[in-house]
Amino acid sequence: MATLKILVIPGSLRTGSLNARLAAAAVDGLARLDVDVTQISLGDFPLPIYDGDLESQDGVPKHAINLKRMFQAHDGVLIVTPEYNASLPPLLKNTIDWVSRVQDASEARGQVYRERPFAIAAASNGKLGGTRCLQALRLVLSSCRALVIPNQLALSFADGAYDDMDRLKHPADIGALQAMLRQLVDVAQQMK
Ligand SMILES: Cc1cc2nc3c(=O)[nH]c(=O)nc-3n(C[C@H](O)[C@H](O)[C@H](O)COP(=O)(O)O)c2cc1C
Repeated sequence: MATLKILVIPGSLRTGSLNARLAAAAVDGLARLDVDVTQISLGDFPLPIYDGDLESQDGVPKHAINLKRMFQAHDGVLIVTPEYNASLPPLLKNTIDWVSRVQDASEARGQVYRERPFAIAAASNGKLGGTRCLQALRLVLSSCRALVIPNQLALSFADGAYDDMDRLKHPADIGALQAMLRQLVDVAQQMK
């Protein structure tokens, strides 16, 4: 059987991002589950803020099309995102919106979201760990009819969550990350 491919997308471009750090821990965890992992930066797919006039005039930008191709080339997607004012950051929402506008011939709009499972995680220095963002993100992805797996990780007090080898150090966080990754891999395998 072909090796499963998982795409990991941090929702922050910030140098030293807590979420890019958690994404790196997830990449390690996925590699240990024997899947092929690709971590991308949304900085490599710059997109203008969605504007219907722009879409009518110029079509969907090529970076949105390229991102959709990245989704299509993978069996599952993990998004690791900051929480901004109890919701998801504009970078991530704008990306999801643009990708939802890419419609290939003989395909329903948003089909790319339905054909593979999504897992969602957040890291924050606050005590809620980005839980409210995960609720908002689950709603957004579900409205694209994505299958968002039930297990998720909201990493609270994220700055203090790692040991000096940059591994998660609290058993509860390690367990939540592993459970989410295993469920993502299992569901991706079933949907493949
Ligand atoms: C505009 C803005 C709004 C924020 N709102 C929240 C919030 O609602 N909840 C929270 O836990 N952290 C919030 N934060 C703090 C972020 O969690 C923190 O900046 C985090 O480091 C961002 O993620 P990153 O390190 O991956 O870039 C906010 C930060 C910004 C810039």
